[in-house]
Amino acid sequence: MAPKLKLNNKKLDNLLEVIRDRRSVRSFDPGDRVPRETLEKIADAGRWAPSGANSQPWEICIIEDPERVREVASVMASQADRLNEHCKGFPHVHKKHWVHDSVALLAVFVDPRWADTYPVALDSDLDRTEYEENRSNILLVSVGAAIQNLQLATTAAGLTSAWLSGGGEPQTARALQTLLGFPTSHIPYGIVPIGWPRRKAESRWRRPIDEVIHWNQAVQANLRSQEDIDHYLAKERRHSIYKDAEARDQHLEKLPTDGEIDQVDDGNH
Ligand SMILES: Cc1cc2nc3c(=O)[nH]c(=O)nc-3n(C[C@H](O)[C@H](O)[C@H](O)COP(=O)(O)O)c2cc1C
Repeated sequence: MAPKLKLNNKKLDNLLEVIRDRRSVRSFDPGDRVPRETLEKIADAGRWAPSGANSQPWEICIIEDPERVREVASVMASQADRLNEHCKGFPHVHKKHWVHDSVALLAVFVDPRWADTYPVALDSDLDRTEYEENRSNILLVSVGAAIQNLQLATTAAGLTSAWLSGGGEPQTARALQTLLGFPTSHIPYGIVPIGWPRRKAESRWRRPIDEVIHWNQAVQANLRSQEDIDHYLAKERRHSIYKDAEARDQHLEKLPTDGEIDQVDDGNH
C-alpha cells in the first residue's frame, strides 16, 4: 500500500514567503553582475510553468550583455514615452530610465500560433461561439504563469523584478524583434527587468482575504460592482500601483476627483 501522504505546511509557508516578498520594484541599484547559472535557474522556473495543451508557447530570451541591456532598456524607455504621451489617464512612472540599471532582462517571446493546439470544435459555428476566443485566453494565461514563475524565482534568488507589458505593443514588439533577432511571429508579451533593489520593497495593497475567497459559492456582497471600478479609476489606481499599502490608505481621501489626470510618478518614493 502506498504511504499516506501528509500536508507539507512548511513548504507551503516557505513558498508563500517568496510569493509575498515578490514586489514590483521599479528602481534598481547598479550592482554585481549575476552569474549565468543563476539566470538560467530563473529562466528554468519559467520553463516549468503550466501551459494549455503543454504547448509551452514561449521563448525566454536572457539579456545580460551590458550593451544589449542598454539597448533593450532604450526600447522600453521609448515605449514609456509613447505611453506617457498617448495614455495620459494611466498613472505611470515618469520614464523607464531605471530599466538601464537592470543586471539582466528576460524577454518572453510568444508565438500565438500555438493557440491552434487548444480545443477546436468540429462544428464551425459552435467553434466560433464557444471556443475560438477562449484559445487566446488560454495562450495568455499560460504566458502569465510563466512570467509569474520567473518573478518568483528572481525574488527567491535575492533579486527583484518588475513586469513590463509594453512589449506587446506593435511598435515596441517590432523594435525588440529586430534588436534580438526574433521573427514577427514571436511577440514579446512580457519584459522582466531584473536588478538589485534600491530599497526594501514596500508592502502593497491587496483586497482583504475574506473578500476575495468565496467558500463553495459566490458571496454576492463581496463581488465588486461597476461603481467600485469607477471609484478605483478615479481615486485609487495610482496609489494602488505604486505606493506602499499604508501610504495608499492615508492618501486615498486626498486623491484627484473624477476626471482629473493622475500626476506623473517619478518612481523614487
Ligand atoms: C499583466 C501585467 C502587466 C503589467 N504591466 C506593467 C507595466 O507595463 N509596467 C509596470 O511598471 N508594471 C506592470 N505590471 C505590474 C503591476 O503594476 C503590479 O504587479 C501591481 O501594481 C501590483 O504590485 P506588486 O507587483 O508590487 O504586487 C504588470 C503586471 C501584470 C500582471
